[in-house]
Amino acid sequence: MKNKSFFILVAFCLLLAGCTFNSTEPTKKELTIGFSQAGTESNWRKVQNQSIKEALEKQNFQVLHRNSYSDPKQQIQDVMTFIAYQVDMIVLSPIEETGWDSVLEEAKEANIPVIIVDRNITTEKQDLYLTHIGSSFKAQGSRAGLYVTNHYQQKTQESIQVFEIRGSENTSPTRLRSDGFLETIGRDPRIHVRQVITGDYIRLKAKEQFSKAIDEGKLEGIDVIYSHNDEMTLGALDAIKEKKLEKNFVIVSIDAQKEMIDQLKKGKVNCVVECNPFMGELVANTVKRYFEKKAIPQDIYVSDTVFSDQNDFSTIPPRGY
Ligand code: AHR
Repeated sequence: MKNKSFFILVAFCLLLAGCTFNSTEPTKKELTIGFSQAGTESNWRKVQNQSIKEALEKQNFQVLHRNSYSDPKQQIQDVMTFIAYQVDMIVLSPIEETGWDSVLEEAKEANIPVIIVDRNITTEKQDLYLTHIGSSFKAQGSRAGLYVTNHYQQKTQESIQVFEIRGSENTSPTRLRSDGFLETIGRDPRIHVRQVITGDYIRLKAKEQFSKAIDEGKLEGIDVIYSHNDEMTLGALDAIKEKKLEKNFVIVSIDAQKEMIDQLKKGKVNCVVECNPFMGELVANTVKRYFEKKAIPQDIYVSDTVFSDQNDFSTIPPRGY
């Protein structure tokens, strides 16, 4: 009897094991995403990079990651490497706006779809990529301009002079942050951009250029400093401190890194327009939708907000970057 029960138990276990084996799904082929990152020029960039990588990996995509460290030629090479590896998709966070046609043609010929993230590219051929996911840089520029126009609305000052610190040339945020700002300040004929320097989105470069501008007397008569990102604003603030410049400027910055929000709270800057780096989930979901053969919108916008000296600072959420 004992033996019989034992036999039944063993048979039952075997049956269960058999069931388990049969119900195991065949392992799916892991899809490989080539993620080409622009650089490491700012804290913002580091967080944007991490957000995308982590979200893709969370969705079980295998991520091949290459960083071109702000070298546009290297970035074209990186994309060519992904094409040679025959990845299933390329996620491209481009440095520059133009010069993409021929390498993206190659990706298209190799049947590798491309998604553009953060900065955008300009091409006549819209079929070279599936979609663009990122902020509206023009809206960011307009918001910065709106702060300035509102700030001076009730003031009787006859002329308002702006010093603009631009990011790298041939990049979509630089072009559009300028366009949006100019369009908005254009509503008040008293406001003009009088001085422009380029800081390449890098703190040290902006500090050098801004220090030089101070030495050359280019800050005389300036009321507003409008900077295309926080790293460059921090560079300008360093220069102002080092050169012991006494004047109080109205300062408007973009990104909303923790360090800049701290400066806002201390009253050192007036307005910080957010550029939201947490685009990973949007990117990973869009990639997933593509492989599930679901429709994908042509442009996917990341939502941004504005923090200024008009805010209750206690409502500003922790930055995480
Ligand atoms: O492309 C987005 C910009 O690039 C961010 O504002 C800046 O910090 C980064 O370097």
